[in-house]
Amino acid sequence: MKLCMIGTGYVGLVSGVCFSDLGNDVICVDKDDVKINNLKKGIIPIYEPGLEELVLKNYKNKRLNFSTNLKEAVKKSDIIFICVGTPSKKNSNSADLSQVYMAAREISKSINKFKIIINKSTVPVTTGDHVEKIIAKKVTRKYFSVVSNPEFLREGEAVRDFIYPDRVVIGSNDKKSEKILKNLYSPLISKGAKFVSTNRRAAELIKYASNAFLATKITFINEIANLCEKTGIDVEDISIGIGLDKRIGSRFLRAGPAYGGSCFPKDTKAIVSTADKFKTNLSVIKSVIKSNEDRSSILHKRVSLILKNKIKNKKIAFLGVTFKANTDDMRDSSSLKLIPYLSKRGAKIKYYDPTGSKKEFNKLNNVKFSKSIQGTVEESDLIIIHTEWNDFKSINFRKYSKNKDLIIYDMRNIFSPNKIKKMGFKYFGIGR
Ligand code: UDX
Repeated sequence: MKLCMIGTGYVGLVSGVCFSDLGNDVICVDKDDVKINNLKKGIIPIYEPGLEELVLKNYKNKRLNFSTNLKEAVKKSDIIFICVGTPSKKNSNSADLSQVYMAAREISKSINKFKIIINKSTVPVTTGDHVEKIIAKKVTRKYFSVVSNPEFLREGEAVRDFIYPDRVVIGSNDKKSEKILKNLYSPLISKGAKFVSTNRRAAELIKYASNAFLATKITFINEIANLCEKTGIDVEDISIGIGLDKRIGSRFLRAGPAYGGSCFPKDTKAIVSTADKFKTNLSVIKSVIKSNEDRSSILHKRVSLILKNKIKNKKIAFLGVTFKANTDDMRDSSSLKLIPYLSKRGAKIKYYDPTGSKKEFNKLNNVKFSKSIQGTVEESDLIIIHTEWNDFKSINFRKYSKNKDLIIYDMRNIFSPNKIKKMGFKYFGIGR
């Protein structure tokens, strides 16, 4: 099939590349000509394992192309995916849909035969209705259909999540489009992905409700971890003990720093804001947002206590600063609060991240990027394992540090406390 992806961010690029790998002809469109020229040269704008290989392979075999010409791309395509950003509005919790509506207006100028227009961007319920109205101003309704097809790709696992999704959700108000899309996704459905068809509004809400539920699960276990720390219990035992109940499930029950990234913080706020518009109080999600925001001060206090309230001149090493492993994304990472908190109080901070130095820390006092794990940790008083990169899981701290009083604060519980204690170091984890 001939597809066009509008927006080459996470969703558009990964989906477009993977669709081309499934045998479709795909044009990925973006306004940013530097990005498009780079993609043509095989330079990928995001860090995402496995993506570069697929871009190079499919660009070479000409199933994948990149363009800044939206009109041409729309004309040539049967299915158009809107994959633009829907960030939070300035000083508001609601989603800024201006890019979605702009894409809809642009598309409407180039419809020359029947097209399916798919909203893959994460959007509040009823956005599809507005997109349909915008296009209907220029085109008769029999020439287009607007469908919702949310994505559930995790950063760092996006290619795998695309190829092996748990489910494909199609929200369509017409059967013809639903059938075409089921066919488009048939290679994934035949490998085991469940196909869920709903009306358009339901699909929009499935996306927000999924992210809000996952954020709730994480926040729940983070609060249980707070209780574990006070009662001498290891939260990992709790996660196993409750996760084995199939009604609960074991995934997304890892206690850690506050959840971050480009989706959960923004989407939990946006669903509450949408519900407010419909005069519905989502009190559970509201308290999840509050609990997650409060979490940073709990973590700050814990670091202070670990250092016996003597932060000044302490040498602190951060291993990992991104919001999770396998991504270079810093959005809403808890390190963005913790590192400034410690820097302000006079700590001397070195940090290492496999994705390199971060501009967010450039202006902070005594915060330096180090190019190696050893260079980061060797003279430190406290090592904070902030992100769960595989690179950190087998570090022999004894080899790297001569400091007998070294303390390790493992914010992702990747080490066994006993193993670290046997090395002669003090160990603190989350909820243990
Ligand atoms: C999320 C959703 O998982 C994905 O389906 C959606 O489409 C986009 O948003 P992403 O933000 O890439 O994906 O990362 P995810 O793996 O979900 O992690 C989000 C945050 O939750 C991270 O800060 C992570 O560290 C945290 N997390 C996740 C936990 O603290 N514990 C867990 O058990 C899982």
